Amino acid sequence: MRQPILEARNITKRFGGLTANEDVSLRIDAPIGQVVSVIGPNGAGKSTLFKMLSGFLKPTSGQILLHGQDITGLAPHRIAQLGLVRTFQETTIFPDLTAMEHVSLAHQLHRNASDLEVVLGLPRAIQDEQTLGASAREILALMELSAVADTQARHLPQGLLRLLGMAMGLATRPQVLLLDEPYAGLNPEETNRAVAITRKVAAGGVSVLLVEHDMKAVMAISDRIHVLYFGKKIAEGTPAEIRNNPQVIEAYLGQEDEEIGL
Ligand SMILES: Nc1ncnc2c1ncn2[C@@H]1O[C@H](COP(=O)(O)OP(=O)(O)O)[C@@H](O)[C@H]1O
Ligand SMILES: [Mg+2]
Repeated sequence: MRQPILEARNITKRFGGLTANEDVSLRIDAPIGQVVSVIGPNGAGKSTLFKMLSGFLKPTSGQILLHGQDITGLAPHRIAQLGLVRTFQETTIFPDLTAMEHVSLAHQLHRNASDLEVVLGLPRAIQDEQTLGASAREILALMELSAVADTQARHLPQGLLRLLGMAMGLATRPQVLLLDEPYAGLNPEETNRAVAITRKVAAGGVSVLLVEHDMKAVMAISDRIHVLYFGKKIAEGTPAEIRNNPQVIEAYLGQEDEEIGL
């Protein structure tokens, strides 16, 4: 069997007496370009798992492997350089910068030239600028943001800001993109658009790992779904398998119907 792209092995995370993740294992298998989702009621441990995968939190125990390489406990920027990136949140958006400037900024991670070369305007830095400019425009086009490339973030609606956050993640050319509730707060039209674009991103050769509350979106977009419940993984399967899994239905009982949509 081919090596998984990303693998979490028996991850546990404790915050004092609280176990946020208990012995969670999950794989994203080759080929690149699948959409894998993690679902579960509020407080199930989804964000904690994502923070560990992307290096923002260290697991108490367990191992995380990216293309077979142990990345457990590495700093987020090191993990990003190795190809796994978490989407940029609202907090990384600057109101006065344009969409294009945001993507260019995120691109810095992938620059070939050193800071000194950039400051001195040396050839390699100049070439980088041209290549990265083209790359930024390509990413904006993929995200259907070309029309607002020169618009300041302060003038963009929520739906487009969310796409811009995703565009910034893509600027680092990841193989795995982690999206934590990318459709939260979007209206149905914005959600449909963002879901379609996420699919396009995956088809373009990025494996997407998604945490999402909008069950309709999850069912529509996912190749595989993992279910967390009180920190433990209780199920894994295709959308159809998850929808019909008695343990999953049980876990969601008491939640609002429209939220789960099972
Ligand atoms: N930094 C932290 N310190 C202490 N407890 C935390 C911390 N982060 C998350 N938790 C707790 O861990 C549990 C899982 O949280 P989280 O991963 O955010 O869940 P989800 O994203 O599934 O809603 C919750 O009980 C939450 O209160
Ligand atoms: Mg969360």
